[in-house]
Amino acid sequence: MVRTTGRTEFDVVVIGGGPAGYATALYGASAGLSVAVVEMDKMGGTCLHRGCIPAKEFLETASVLRTVSGSKEFGVESGQPVLDFSVSQGRKQKVVDTLFKGLVGLMKGRGIESFSGTGQLLADRRVRVTGGDETVELSGRNVVLASGSVPRTIPGFEVDGQVVLTSDEVLSLEKEPASVAIIGGGAIGCEFASMFSDLGSQVTVLEALPSLLTGCDDDVIAVVARSFRKRGVDVHTGVKVTGHSPNGNGTTVSFGDGESVTVDAVILSVGRRPLTEGLLAEGTGVVVDERGFVKVDEYMRTGVDGVWAAGDVVDTPQLAHVGFAEGILAIKGMLGERAFPVEYSRVPWCIYCHPEVAFVGLSEAQATAAGLDVVVKKDPFGGNSRARIVGETDGLVKVICERAADGRAGRILGVHMVGPWVTEQLGQGYLAVNWEATPDDVAQFIQPHPTLSESFGETVMALTGRGLHLG
Ligand code: NAI
Repeated sequence: MVRTTGRTEFDVVVIGGGPAGYATALYGASAGLSVAVVEMDKMGGTCLHRGCIPAKEFLETASVLRTVSGSKEFGVESGQPVLDFSVSQGRKQKVVDTLFKGLVGLMKGRGIESFSGTGQLLADRRVRVTGGDETVELSGRNVVLASGSVPRTIPGFEVDGQVVLTSDEVLSLEKEPASVAIIGGGAIGCEFASMFSDLGSQVTVLEALPSLLTGCDDDVIAVVARSFRKRGVDVHTGVKVTGHSPNGNGTTVSFGDGESVTVDAVILSVGRRPLTEGLLAEGTGVVVDERGFVKVDEYMRTGVDGVWAAGDVVDTPQLAHVGFAEGILAIKGMLGERAFPVEYSRVPWCIYCHPEVAFVGLSEAQATAAGLDVVVKKDPFGGNSRARIVGETDGLVKVICERAADGRAGRILGVHMVGPWVTEQLGQGYLAVNWEATPDDVAQFIQPHPTLSESFGETVMALTGRGLHLG
């Protein structure tokens, strides 16, 4: 049933209640606009229910298990830890449910009207909402398309939720599989590889490209690959997966030159595709490209007056925080305020595998390929006192600068981190890159001691030509 208070006309009608959709709604309502959100499942979308939040919660379970397993080194005897995955599931669900309740309450508190049902854009900024046998038609001065994305699959691998899974199914598993083949070694693949390996599964990663985590800096990739190797994750890069033969309990996956691996489960993490089926009725004028993404300009305008799009349904980095920024940009556009397009080449990226990865801006290879003359410094976490205290010294901070006319390190082009809690340390690097700061600008600021963030401070200081610990 479509829930409605009777009101059908709004300043903004948003289709999709994921991060892009709810950020649009919250920001719009904060600016005094009347807002409706149409959601066919649960408010919060993929990120809250089947993506970022549950995945990171499980990665935290993996981290707790690692800590307990390694406690003896600190003189803390705890015996061999035992994982009860059903308890982990319960905790994950509690985290998700609490955040879900909070989001629903927040939206209600802001006067945002929620419609449960499937939204379809009609001509003239009208939106049909269908839920069960009921249909309601809404009208918006503006409509924002934020219908998100779904996992891509590959031919020959029918998702059954038992043996062949995508991230949607993995995050609600009752028990960890004893062995798993992960197809795709990107962000999702590496997070799952790390998590299942730490939880005790035998993990194989099959990646078509020559390396894991394509797009990250090579030094960062090398640290993750080494850590995976040390933990017994079997990584095959540059391989084509040719098919699989189920055997009753699991399946045998064939890949490469006649190689195969027999596992309990296969996880497909080969990217996500935009969800636009049924989103647009005939004659809306909104253009969808050949891969299904809604076409927009840099201000999130579809080209149809008053119709905008944001989040995974447009062809920009598929990150919740990018969806937030795009929703905010659309609202500013509606209000006629001065707004700046999202700088997609400088958004923050965080991958929560162990060791964590965080970066912003150009990698060394990308900068060089762009014809830039660069000055680079790397600070391994092995020399950082807090990393020694915590007992996590794998990793480094790498800063890439454009060479200035005087030959010294000039504008900071990229900051790349791999190691303990780097997802929480990227902020300074993000500001430095986006402010187009130089090491001289940044190095004068003090880093608290002892902290992991000193590694970033140390690296920029060394780039001024005078480092304390780093030459
Ligand atoms: P992805 O695009 O990051 O990685 C997919 C990988 O699968 C690529 O390396 C690709 O070469 C490989 N691949 C594709 N087809 C293949 C095949 N047939 N056989 C073997 N390998 C194949 O996509 P992913 O990891 O599924 O993530 C989807 C989106 O969600 C991405 O845009 C990602 O950035 C985002 N995401 C971000 C996270 C984060 O920032 N922490 C976490 C999870 C997802």
